[in-house]
Amino acid sequence: MNTKMTVQDLLRKKREKQKITMITAYDYPFAQIVDEAGIDVILVGDSLAMVVQGLENTLPVTMDEMVYHARMVSRAARSAMVIGDMPYLSYQVSTEDAVRNGGRFLKEGGAHAVKLEGGREVAKQVEAMTRSEIPVMAHIGLTPQAIHRMGGYKVQGKTGEAAKRLLEDAKILEDAGAFSLILEAIPAELAKQITDELAIPTIGIGGGPYCDGQVLVIHDVIGLFDRFVPKFVKKYANLKIDALEAVRKYKEEVEAGDFPGKEHSF
Ligand code: KIV
Repeated sequence: MNTKMTVQDLLRKKREKQKITMITAYDYPFAQIVDEAGIDVILVGDSLAMVVQGLENTLPVTMDEMVYHARMVSRAARSAMVIGDMPYLSYQVSTEDAVRNGGRFLKEGGAHAVKLEGGREVAKQVEAMTRSEIPVMAHIGLTPQAIHRMGGYKVQGKTGEAAKRLLEDAKILEDAGAFSLILEAIPAELAKQITDELAIPTIGIGGGPYCDGQVLVIHDVIGLFDRFVPKFVKKYANLKIDALEAVRKYKEEVEAGDFPGKEHSF
């Protein structure tokens, strides 16, 4: 029997200076691979809107769709912690929405925690969810649900004033009860300062090497999404090319009458 990664384990990893590994997954087979690889945390990210549903940005994905994907991932996760990503408008309007929708990830999706985007403006939601026994990972810096305000996927916290505000947000979210904090697309030195000043672990995605852990979108890591590749992504495989080759070969063999052979027939 495998033991599950817990919030307490992640806090201990930070204290013991062990890096935390996190990656997204959206369905059973990919979650199985991630879990077998020994990754600490699986994020059922709202990035699935773009990499699975083929949408332009993350805004349209619904709570029902997120819970559906979380359920598939949870079925595969034996040792990894599963985090459900709160989609746009599932928590911004009220703390009641946040608790009800966050609770759905735990109750229906089999997740162990949730993630939401935003700084001080969502501190009340973080507090309310934490009080309702829903562990919350926060997410600041480049927050893709704010794409229309930010005017694109741009590096954040570059001016002194913006950096100061992000550091304040980080502390407010920690005080509100967040057990961890994602830092997306901010200067490495700022991420270091935030990491040093918080007791909770920071997880970087374009946050440089000093964060307590790292997260990436699995479709970027294995080369399945090529609409755009951010600077912070490292591609470890090129599965789209391999899959394309396999399907082309299958087509060729069917057309040529080479498949199925005797060994595939009854
Ligand atoms: O939706 C997502 O996948 C994310 C991250 C990669 C942090 O929010």
